Amino acid sequence: MKTLSSFNFKGKIVLLRADLNSDVKNGKVLESERIKESAKTINELKKKKAKIVVISHQGRPGKDDFVSLVQHAKLLNKYTKIRFVNDIIGKKSENAIKNLKPGEAILLDNIRKEKDEFLPNKSDNELLKIVRLCGIYVNDAFSVCHRNEASIVLFPKYLQSCAGRLLEKEVNALKKIKLKSCLYILGGAKPEDNIKLLGKNKVLACGLFGQVCLINKGKNLGEQENYLKKQKAFIKILKNKLKNIETPVDFAVKVNNKRKELVLDKFPNKYEIFDIGSRTIKEYIDKIKKAKAVYMKGPAGDCNIRGFEKGTFAILKAIASNKKCFSLIGGGHLSDAIKDSGIPKNKFSHISLSGGALLNYIAGEKLHGLVALS
Ligand code: 3PG
Ligand code: MG
Repeated sequence: MKTLSSFNFKGKIVLLRADLNSDVKNGKVLESERIKESAKTINELKKKKAKIVVISHQGRPGKDDFVSLVQHAKLLNKYTKIRFVNDIIGKKSENAIKNLKPGEAILLDNIRKEKDEFLPNKSDNELLKIVRLCGIYVNDAFSVCHRNEASIVLFPKYLQSCAGRLLEKEVNALKKIKLKSCLYILGGAKPEDNIKLLGKNKVLACGLFGQVCLINKGKNLGEQENYLKKQKAFIKILKNKLKNIETPVDFAVKVNNKRKELVLDKFPNKYEIFDIGSRTIKEYIDKIKKAKAVYMKGPAGDCNIRGFEKGTFAILKAIASNKKCFSLIGGGHLSDAIKDSGIPKNKFSHISLSGGALLNYIAGEKLHGLVALS
């Protein structure tokens, strides 16, 4: 795989596919490790005197976190100077790209605002308008490599390409991992992604996934089921796949804006769920203590809301304390949670900034983005 060391970037227009996708709360984009780490690749390219055009997505069309990248540019500016261009394939972008000077960087708007991002096989794909203005494609978005989207698979067909430092780091770390007897702790907000991992390995289910597993086991979760439907998070899981999955025995809900824990018997009710409860935490920690390898994907609850980070932090702490355990942490949200929890990063064997892509990799699938680079 070619890397940033493979080319002379001086004066070249580089199309850098980053993953700046971060949490969004009430329309506000939160600080994230992805943004901070992506700035490092941008800075290396600046030093190499490239003219840098950064592209990224944020959220998915139709979801609450599908917003413009203007705030990402502001956050990036803490680490590197970059100008936001409120356009993708129009005249504004074209002019901005043509006027770039060596060592300068611009950020175009959310690439998923263009429908053609989702049509990588379309012959006259509109996004090629910007690709044709550039000289080298750099993929630094390992976390999106499982997506068959134009900025991941189509662009490297048109430009000489290489991996950015973040992608390179992820791939090198994953080469070292043996996962046979690994305990999977699967949470997060995208339950459908987890299906592929179900089978032989023991699973501790949390996050929306934990709730979905419980419903599949026949439990009625009341109001929370409406939320899951609204988020299109509900999925059907085959009975034989449920066998190795341990599910929560209690949850934390919000009453008068405070955390209140309810055991499973108290469901269905009118409350939405924000975290796993203390009994679940205790049971899961007991399992983690005995594990030799752990892969955690996605937080256990809504850890951006005060009081509901408890489950996620407790699980992370248990993993970090098990010194004999090889620990792989996945998902942009979790790397942020580790930072917020104050647990030193070096207590984990590898912290990945990707969720779904890492999961597909672990499930043994070929990642579109890596294939496209090779
Ligand atoms: C992620 O957050 O996992 C990546 O940014 C990919 O986002 P996606 O799941 O919306 O494709
Ligand atoms: Mg995500």
